[in-house]
Amino acid sequence: MSTVWGTSDVDAAATRGVALRTSPGDVVTPLARDRAQELGVAITSADALDRPPSSAPSVSSATTDRSSSTSGSGATAGIRRNGSPQRAPSPATPLPPGSVGSPGTGGPVRSMRPPSPALFRRGAPLPGGLGSGPSRTGRAVVVGAGHVGMIAGMRLADADVFGEVVLVDIDEGRAAGIALDLQHTAPLSDFATCVRGVGSVEDAGPADYVVITAGRPRQPGMSRADLAGTNAEIVGDLAWRVAATSPHAVIVVVTNPLDEMTQHAWTSSGFPSSRVLGMAGVLDTARFQALIALDGGVRAPAVDAIALGSHGEEMVIPLSRATHDGRSLDALVSPGRLNAAVDRARGSGAEVVGLLKTGSAFMAPGTSAARMVLAMVRDSDEVMSAAVLADGSYGIRDVYLGLPVRLGRSGLREIVTIPLTPEELAALREAGERIRRRLTAVPEAS
Ligand code: 2OP
Repeated sequence: MSTVWGTSDVDAAATRGVALRTSPGDVVTPLARDRAQELGVAITSADALDRPPSSAPSVSSATTDRSSSTSGSGATAGIRRNGSPQRAPSPATPLPPGSVGSPGTGGPVRSMRPPSPALFRRGAPLPGGLGSGPSRTGRAVVVGAGHVGMIAGMRLADADVFGEVVLVDIDEGRAAGIALDLQHTAPLSDFATCVRGVGSVEDAGPADYVVITAGRPRQPGMSRADLAGTNAEIVGDLAWRVAATSPHAVIVVVTNPLDEMTQHAWTSSGFPSSRVLGMAGVLDTARFQALIALDGGVRAPAVDAIALGSHGEEMVIPLSRATHDGRSLDALVSPGRLNAAVDRARGSGAEVVGLLKTGSAFMAPGTSAARMVLAMVRDSDEVMSAAVLADGSYGIRDVYLGLPVRLGRSGLREIVTIPLTPEELAALREAGERIRRRLTAVPEAS
């Protein structure tokens, strides 16, 4: 019977000062290989990973990758903060009928058993052929197959960088139907991504990136803060289940009220804060760019600006550094119209809600969430806005809000300091304080 060697086995070998002795057919996880290289532990057998994917390895208890993540909150993934045992991911859940890839849907019938978390490293090719190929690796999961999730899933599939994109919804028929419909666009959008729709994060399997869009959307007349209680319960439950299913994933929260929900996802997941990010700044920046471009008759990408602070009234768009083609924006539009554009960007969410009457925006939010994930997958060096846990930069600490960041494959790489006027800095700090006060209305992570 083959054995899976995980990071804890490498640690044990390092402690004893011996090599890791594996037998033919054994599997050494990618994370274990990284750890062995890091600790200088020799692995004394041919690469045991070259094994036909059809025979799933047995993960012996001694080698289960016991990596758990802790954060400042002291939470540890796998055990709920109240000590109740974690619901174990369903081991071999057959794909729900109608899901892409289950018998009878014409999709490739694939292994029903998701790869063991011990085997699954961000960006490692998925066993069983999924994601095989030079450019596509790993899995992105979008939780919530509403309009935002649908757009995010489509953008991620179109990007053709993941082996698999999985839509998750409590209405698994909806998730599976949208996934199948999206899969049908593969020849039209020329992607090889496999798209699946399932009913739970457990059934999605271990992921590299998990976008959480699930929650109640705003209705006309509602503020984002009105959603805090209801959505905190949804986001909190999802976050700790994602931590159990995808212990190495990066979580991108979209659910409102964004800043508060991202902080709640962080405390509920037990992940390091660098792997729990909120998507709002990319959306708010895009809205401002689009409005300026419309007003000035220029192409939106040529407008260089950034939206920071909260995803709401305390949004801060530093006009002192906003440019078009390298020139100050007031060379393009008057200061009065600049300020009007800032106000309109700040209220764009409500403006769309008022027009739609039956829900909130989804094209730009879904695209923005995908944009963040793709920036991470591609290790792009660009500076963008994301809701992150402030680390003292800008004089703000221990609260999630929109700051300029660089993202990498493992989430937040660094918070970037950009020059701000005293007024802009004061507004950013005020945003942090007001978010901190609103956090008192969010139930503690359980
Ligand atoms: C928005 O601003 C839904 O918060 C999102 O449209």
